[in-house]
Amino acid sequence: MQVEHSRARDFFERREFFDEYKIDSDHENMMKTIHSFIKIENIYASAARNITTRLENLNDEMKVSKNRNLIHEIKTRVKKPRSIAEKLLRKGYKLSIESARENLNDIAGVRVICPFVDDVYAIAELLLSQDDLYMVQKTDYIQNPKPNGYRSLHIDVEIPVFLSQQKEWVKAEIQFRTIAMDYWATLEHDLGYKFNGEKKEEVTRELKECSDLIAQADLRMEKLHKVLYEENE
Ligand code: GTP
Ligand code: MG
Repeated sequence: MQVEHSRARDFFERREFFDEYKIDSDHENMMKTIHSFIKIENIYASAARNITTRLENLNDEMKVSKNRNLIHEIKTRVKKPRSIAEKLLRKGYKLSIESARENLNDIAGVRVICPFVDDVYAIAELLLSQDDLYMVQKTDYIQNPKPNGYRSLHIDVEIPVFLSQQKEWVKAEIQFRTIAMDYWATLEHDLGYKFNGEKKEEVTRELKECSDLIAQADLRMEKLHKVLYEENE
């Protein structure tokens, strides 16, 4: 309860959030909105934890049979209320909790970083074979990289989250990528904010070239791994 209270206060102190998005700001309604935000934050954090546990279990099992990790690292994040509101407005959706739950697949985000490209597909397939998890949408930016060079496998899923009174189906976006793809995406994301000036075109071209180089290195490392791995089996 203590935690709930201080989180509610945090929202209160960010009053400009309510003003900016014209959320009804009389006291009672504001409290209701705050609590509904906290409730969905918890539900989405729970969804992200649930997916992480499933992935860790699969990795542990594969570690026994394959004698190595298919997953290098898992990261999770839950979208902040401000980003949820901004995305709803940007996409022309209604600004409400119900609308966010219905229209946004990425309030809960899980990033799965694997050593090799084959691992990305293997772990994604294992997760999708589970019978209480549904795929909502798949975008394969590895087979079809974005024009800027972005590569990752995006799978939006729906999973059950068990609460004290009921079961809720919750959507989450899972991004599967290799260590090399993550290296590029992380730096591109940082650079993207810094280069908006006249050098933009040059930077864009350079980033695309780096992405292609990194993708080639990824495949060469995977080939090398296969040769050495098979020799030692
Ligand atoms: P939005 O989420 O509204 O952008 O639409 P969408 O769901 O169709 O987007 P998509 O699934 O293609 O990408 C969503 C997420 O993938 C972003 O929030 C980023 O984390 C990542 N992503 C997509 N494109 C890029 C990119 O060009 N560079 C980097 N660094 N990350 C990207
Ligand atoms: Mg998406």
